[in-house]
Amino acid sequence: MLDTITVRQMPFEFPDEIDPVFIDGDHQQSFGFIAGSLLLPHLEPYLIRSMKAAEKHVTDPKVLDGLKRFAAQEGQHYRMHMKFNASIRRSGFPELEALEKELSDDYHRFSRTKSLRFNLAYAEGFEALTMNAIKQLMEPDGFGPDLPPYLEMVEWHFVEELEHRTVAFDVYDHVCGGYFYRLAVGTWAQWHFTSWMRRVTSYMLKVRPGPKRSARQLADARQEAGMPSAPKVRSLLPSLLRIYLPSYTPHDVEIAPGIQALADKYTEMAIKTS
Ligand SMILES: [Fe+2]
Ligand SMILES: [Fe+2]
Repeated sequence: MLDTITVRQMPFEFPDEIDPVFIDGDHQQSFGFIAGSLLLPHLEPYLIRSMKAAEKHVTDPKVLDGLKRFAAQEGQHYRMHMKFNASIRRSGFPELEALEKELSDDYHRFSRTKSLRFNLAYAEGFEALTMNAIKQLMEPDGFGPDLPPYLEMVEWHFVEELEHRTVAFDVYDHVCGGYFYRLAVGTWAQWHFTSWMRRVTSYMLKVRPGPKRSARQLADARQEAGMPSAPKVRSLLPSLLRIYLPSYTPHDVEIAPGIQALADKYTEMAIKTS
């Protein structure tokens, strides 16, 4: 299931200003989500640069086609997140700019100074963790009906992450290969981007600390906003641990049929597909 990679140009529009606490009363979860969205216009162009650098070394036409589609999908993703992030930035968190600059500098430095093997292992470290997390959060059939545009945007993005789930793994394997190196750099990559997201979340919480809420109230707020429940998030761990095993390959990751229905929905909604 879900074995084609479709590049979709999406029509999502966001209001000029979005309240960054879009999960009512759950500042932590709302800001964590925003941190992820702020990460992407820096990270995804870096992934694209790494793929483009690998392109000339790829001799397998199937891997090459996947690489090109991966780059085209990520190009659509970060542009859409830039649009969303612009609405968020207008709501006043002045130090985000410096944090983003630091991240952007890191990724440009990696492209300039690190080996292609490092950059491809970073890409797969990111893709493996996020794809397996997304699978857990989305299955069996996504976030539910009647979503606000920012959640539809996330759902579309997540569907495409599942569609291109094997590409970074295959490109690394084809061009460089090696389990231990991929494991070491991939784990470091996961620390690198998640610690940046944690810093962004704590900065935003410092600027706008949330009210004290009980676990019940937080769970209700998340459900109302269409966000995954805490038990679903907790159940992530076992499925994430498998990505560190030597036997792990994203080719063995089966995607639920309900996700194909979502992929079809977003293909219908797209302005243009290829
Ligand atoms: Fe993406
Ligand atoms: Fe991706």
